[in-house]
Amino acid sequence: MPDDCSSSLANQTIAVVGAFGLVGREALAILGDRGVPLERVRAFGSARSAGTIIPYRDGELTIAELREGGLEGCDIAIFGTDADTAKAHAPRANVAGVRVVDNSSAYRLDSRVPLVVPEVNGELLDDGPMLVANPNCSTILLLLAVEPVRRAFGVRSVIASTYQAISGAGRAAVEELFSQTRDALDGKALTPSAFPVPCAFNVFPHESAVDPDTGLNVEESKIIAESRKILASPDLDVSPTCVRVPVERCHSQSLTIELERPASRGAVVELFGSFPGVAINADPAALVTPRDISGSDLVSISRPRLSADGRRLSLWTCGDQLRKGAALNAVQIAERLAAVAVG
Ligand SMILES: NC(=O)c1ccc[n+]([C@@H]2O[C@H](COP(=O)([O-])OP(=O)(O)OC[C@H]3O[C@@H](n4cnc5c(N)ncnc54)[C@H](OP(=O)(O)O)[C@@H]3O)[C@@H](O)[C@H]2O)c1
Repeated sequence: MPDDCSSSLANQTIAVVGAFGLVGREALAILGDRGVPLERVRAFGSARSAGTIIPYRDGELTIAELREGGLEGCDIAIFGTDADTAKAHAPRANVAGVRVVDNSSAYRLDSRVPLVVPEVNGELLDDGPMLVANPNCSTILLLLAVEPVRRAFGVRSVIASTYQAISGAGRAAVEELFSQTRDALDGKALTPSAFPVPCAFNVFPHESAVDPDTGLNVEESKIIAESRKILASPDLDVSPTCVRVPVERCHSQSLTIELERPASRGAVVELFGSFPGVAINADPAALVTPRDISGSDLVSISRPRLSADGRRLSLWTCGDQLRKGAALNAVQIAERLAAVAVG
């Protein structure tokens, strides 16, 4: 491993697919921060971004168009593309011996594919699967708050209201937030494109399609199904309400968790203080915001409040959905796969 590299990926050839997208760029930033050398990293995109030069550590990477066979010779590929692209290319990569960590929804509910948050069910990586699905960003952030509580006190039900950043919908959505904010301030008419309604100075239920039978939108259904799969708890009672807010980056959540066994505030603070991937702010008056958490690797847990009988816990959480909700979780999975491969 090179002297300045802190990652088990140092000796792996690693591809980032969708390198010009928000998740892909964040994955490259994380690999760079960990000291993965330039010569070990490949960047891929569609024909739109092919040829674009992007900075990486002290050097530059040129994005190559992803074509059939293009990932051959790589050890691990982190996909930050739409689900159709992942479905078209991940199986071919696997056949060529390339392990894939996929950020899209393509394989999350496939029973043959592990869906992993390393702090929660990372042991699924220990037999070196060829394909691993990265969960939905809201699911990852939710479970990092729920799992410590579940282990300590048991969980009867979870009510989760999300306040989701615009960047959760990709690069084009962020550009729309900026341009629409300027247009709104200039008094111009707002024409939504990335969302069905204007996102500037607005709040709206998550834009994904609604199931007419359940009334749940796709984001809410993902949280329910993915949480049950990751926790191996098919009857887990989760009630999400997913909402977009005009925040550039970082998702917040308001959680109310019904516990099997009563908790005390001190015990709750202590358990979040010792669980990996989270940080507790125990100041009851703390105002933790997405701005504070942007770029952080830890999910912030704050405002712990308990009912008089200690069986209902309310929390406020903020997490960077591009890092732990996507790219960081994927890099952590890749690192564990690399460590397993090296033995
Ligand atoms: N944004 C988040 O917070 C977040 C969180 C968790 C999971 N995810 C998931 O992660 C994935 C990426 O999201 P994102 O926000 O990064 O989206 P994005 O900013 O829109 O980027 C998507 C990337 O996919 C690339 N792409 C599309 N078709 C391709 C093809 N045929 N071959 C190679 N690359 C192709 C695009 O390449 P070009 O640049 O060439 O167009 C683009 O760079 C999505 O599945 C999303 O649901 C996103």
